[in-house]
Amino acid sequence: MTATASRPASLVEAVPPAAGPAREPVLTVRDLTVVYETEQPVTAVRSASLQLGRGEILGLAGESGCGKTTLAYAINRLHQPPARIAGGSVVFHDRDGTDLDLLALPDAALRRFRWSKLSMVFQGAMNSLNPVITIGAQLDDTLRAHDRRTGRAQRRERSAEVLRRVGVDPVRLRSYPHELSGGMRQRVMIAMAMLLEPQIMIMDEPTTALDVVVQRDILRELVRLRDELDFAVVFITHDLPLLLEISDRIAVMLRGEVVELDTAERLRLGAAHPYTRRLLGSFPSLSGERGAFIRSGVGADAPATTPGEPA
Ligand SMILES: Nc1ncnc2c1ncn2[C@@H]1O[C@H](COP(=O)(O)OP(=O)(O)OP(=O)(O)O)[C@@H](O)[C@H]1O
Ligand SMILES: [Mg+2]
Repeated sequence: MTATASRPASLVEAVPPAAGPAREPVLTVRDLTVVYETEQPVTAVRSASLQLGRGEILGLAGESGCGKTTLAYAINRLHQPPARIAGGSVVFHDRDGTDLDLLALPDAALRRFRWSKLSMVFQGAMNSLNPVITIGAQLDDTLRAHDRRTGRAQRRERSAEVLRRVGVDPVRLRSYPHELSGGMRQRVMIAMAMLLEPQIMIMDEPTTALDVVVQRDILRELVRLRDELDFAVVFITHDLPLLLEISDRIAVMLRGEVVELDTAERLRLGAAHPYTRRLLGSFPSLSGERGAFIRSGVGADAPATTPGEPA
């Protein structure tokens, strides 16, 4: 990957060239800069570059306020004023071989693109389900908005199937959000993001609000689904130990810049950037065997579906 080549002199100067994805890219972000045009303008994302490989889990780490959410929103132009993209490019490499310049895509095409090619699970998403509409109707709305030809029965079957995939009993299609636990609501949001079989899912702190056991269950299933369906994931969290467990590669952000991007293995063994080392050092549990927990559940002997009701 050549992404770091044209960055301005900055914190990244001392960083060796980032490791590129092992597989062909599905998304290339180059020198993306996002400014909040407030009284005192804030450059929340500064010349950020990264490439996402097809089927790869890319972790995006960094302390609160470093620009992770701003970057995620800007990638598919979900940012709102005062945020403004001040420079750079975002290109989606479709499975059929075409490249889409997302920053130049007309609005109608962008709406078709979202959910179907790239979906997002937003920070705090489990609270963003509409409280007065059943889960089934919310899934159905998303399907209908993107495909008017599919019949009602088929849509229902598809909604049931995505729920099953994330370990939620399809009987829950008739439930309202308040009838579900936090973990189940979060699973529903992940099901919603998978509904149209996108090639990329951006997940912003998808499990931070959940207790650690539920979090592990969901992540284990996410990794298994990725293995099965081959979508790529940008997984955002400030929980670096968690990222080391589930990611293929990890990008570390500091004050709006991607200061390091490398395989999870290489970061764990010897991060290049002092900030990454500091971040790693602030998690005492890293020397433990925690990594084995999620990985161990993702083998060939892992069940295809979660038996019973999830938490
Ligand atoms: N609407 C806004 N107006 C002005 N500045 C903003 C706005 N939203 C975010 N910022 C600033 O942009 C920077 C990046 O914010 P962002 O929410 O992207 O960080 P983050 O890495 O996602 O943090 P967290 O881990 O807390 O979710 C912060 O300094 C924040 O104060
Ligand atoms: Mg955020």
